[in-house]
Amino acid sequence: MRRAVYPGSFDPVTLGHLDIIRRSSQMVDELIVGVLNNSSKNPLFSVAERVKMLEEVTCGLSNVTVCSFDGLLVDFARQRGAQIVIRGLRAITDFEYELQMSQTNRIMCPELDTIFLTTDLRYAYLSSSTVREVGRYGGDLSAFVPERILGQVYQKFHEK
Ligand code: PNS
Repeated sequence: MRRAVYPGSFDPVTLGHLDIIRRSSQMVDELIVGVLNNSSKNPLFSVAERVKMLEEVTCGLSNVTVCSFDGLLVDFARQRGAQIVIRGLRAITDFEYELQMSQTNRIMCPELDTIFLTTDLRYAYLSSSTVREVGRYGGDLSAFVPERILGQVYQKFHEK
């Protein structure tokens, strides 16, 4: 059973994340999308909202589940019986941080390997922080987040 975790903040999930979820879910038997419940960051969406949005956009992918986690990624992966971590790489600027994180994780948990997928060129510029910035000023988000959650994302900016 090849099981992977795809961890992140997903604040909110973008089309780039969804592309990585789709592609990586085809490489494994089970993909667990792990939403970090990070109290030190001040997220726009609560962890429950982020999990719900991810569930909505992945509902057609039968081997994908979504849940939140606290603490270390290696502990979450161990608890879930995952041998693989999936991360997307958009540009060389991502590389240093991602390399450091995967090497740290491997020191703590040698049986856990990280697989990097290069982001589809259509989404190479895209990040959740871009979505938050454009949304904050009332911009059109339809090119950035899955259509299914567009209403919820606009609603959040409307409430702010
Ligand atoms: O979407 P993000 O914010 O780039 O995701 C970062 C994430 C959640 C993958 C990373 O911060 C993480 O794994 N955090 C959990 C704490 C941890 O295990 N850190 C250790 C390795 S340096």
